[in-house]
Amino acid sequence: MPDLNPTEHPVIAAIKQRYSAYQFSNKAVEAEKLQSLFEAARWAASSFNEQPWRFIVATKDSPTQYDKALGCLVEANQGWAQAAPVIVLTAVKQEFTYNGSPNRVALHDLGQAAAHMALQAAELGLVIHQMAGIQQDKVASTYSLPDGFTAETAIAIGYPGEGNLNDAEARARQRKPLDELVFSDAWGNASELF
Ligand SMILES: Cc1cc2nc3c(=O)[nH]c(=O)nc-3n(C[C@H](O)[C@H](O)[C@H](O)COP(=O)(O)O)c2cc1C
Repeated sequence: MPDLNPTEHPVIAAIKQRYSAYQFSNKAVEAEKLQSLFEAARWAASSFNEQPWRFIVATKDSPTQYDKALGCLVEANQGWAQAAPVIVLTAVKQEFTYNGSPNRVALHDLGQAAAHMALQAAELGLVIHQMAGIQQDKVASTYSLPDGFTAETAIAIGYPGEGNLNDAEARARQRKPLDELVFSDAWGNASELF
């Protein structure tokens, strides 16, 4: 995979390669590679090791299951995501198991697991695209989510489509400068590191 991201400091190859694809090859993703993606997610850190993340996976090998998952995305996302051979829906457990108190970092931990998955995907030559645009109530009813769990995001997974990045993919290759993001001593005071 080519380096896509114009980083200003050295990072691991997967970070340089990762991007949110809108174009996918119609090649199926091998079961072993999907297993590796979920393994990568599983080994993310989480507060109190709660591992609040849950995933529902559907592939085009099972068209009924695939359509069920795709139908839980908002329409705009269904438009491009239907090219992806794999759709994953995510959910989190809202309370800590050890004491039943609200887990205010459950979404943080899901994001961390998703980031693991994204970097593992880049390493394997796959592309993934995370989505906030899902119908949360529809996920809950379609899959009978138990009390205490909320549907959160979706992830489209596949091999990259042929050809160059499309406009949306290319536009996303921009980031805020680090001196707007990393402060020292006072809020807004750019760290001398940058
Ligand atoms: C939690 C999350 C939700 C997102 N939701 C959507 C979405 O609903 N639809 C979409 O097209 N892209 C979505 N994206 C993709 C972002 O637009 C994309 O990550 C951003 O533009 C940066 O581009 P890059 O991932 O290619 O670096 C989402 C990304 C994340 C992490």
